Order: sequence, then C-alpha cells, then structure tokens
Amino acid sequence: MSAEETLILVKPDGVARGLSGEILRRVEAKGYRITDLRMVTASRELLAEHYAEHEGKPFFEPLLEFMSSGPIVAVRAEGDRVIEGFRSLAGATDPTTAAPGTIRGDLGRDWGVAVQQNLVHGSDSTLSAERELALWFA
Ligand code: TYD
Ligand code: MG
Repeated sequence: MSAEETLILVKPDGVARGLSGEILRRVEAKGYRITDLRMVTASRELLAEHYAEHEGKPFFEPLLEFMSSGPIVAVRAEGDRVIEGFRSLAGATDPTTAAPGTIRGDLGRDWGVAVQQNLVHGSDSTLSAERELALWFA
C-alpha cells in the first residue's frame, strides 16, 4: 500500500509574503515528501469546486475573491498520516489565535478580514484529499 497523500496549498497571502519556502521547509522538516508542485492563479470555477462545502456561507464569495487574487503554490505531499499531520502543522483556522509553533500561529494574523488570510490549506480527510488532488493536479 502506498503512503497517504494530501493536498497542500500555499494561499495567495503566503506566496505574496514570500513564505512559500518557509512553509514547504516545515513540511519537509517534518518528514513528509513533496511529490508534485505547481504554481497557479486559480479560476473562480476551480475555487468554487474546491470550497464547495462552504457554498452559501457569508465568507464564501470574499474567500473566492481572495483565493483568486494571486498565485497559489499547490503541493502534493505524502507520508504516513500526512493529512492529520499537516493539519496539525498548519494550526487552527483563525491565524490570530492559532497556536504558536504552527504555520498559521507563527506566521499569520488578521489583515482587515477576520480569519480569511491564513496562509495554507490542507485536505481534511482521505476523501477530500482524493477529490482535491484530482482538481488541482488534473
Ligand atoms: P474551513 O474549512 O472552516 O477551515 P480550514 O481551512 O482550517 O479547513 O474554512 C475554509 C477557509 O475559509 C479558511 O481557511 C478561511 C476561510 N474562512 C473565512 O474566510 N471565514 C470564516 O469565518 C471561516 C470559518 C473560514
Ligand atoms: Mg477546511
């Protein structure tokens, strides 16, 4: 059986702030393997698919706006329990209160819109990972 895989995104704020290297360094330092990587400015259509579970929520449209505002680094990573492990590296969704030691806790904060710009995405289940990897690495 091959190792578990996940989709990691360095969001437009992370790329714009020059933090892609620092974020990927943490992924590799943890021991996960990066097996594919691409830089992409995502279309609304791709993002709406990616965030389909949040459609209709008040933050949905602003989120798509932000996520399409600049290039994203999309990463395929693998390793035992990498899905849970990367979520743990990323930290809580709200960067203002995410624990120090995590990517969001160490490097993120609010920038005018609460919660939105939190540097990274990581798949939250094997089902999401499979679905999201197919979207971003079609
Ligand atoms: P969510 O899936 O809840 O968080 P996570 O990225 O930790 O899995 O939400 C998806 C993204 O939506 C989140 O990373 C940032 C954005 N978001 C907002 O802009 N406002 C909000 O109130 C929430 C909950 C999320
Ligand atoms: Mg999520």
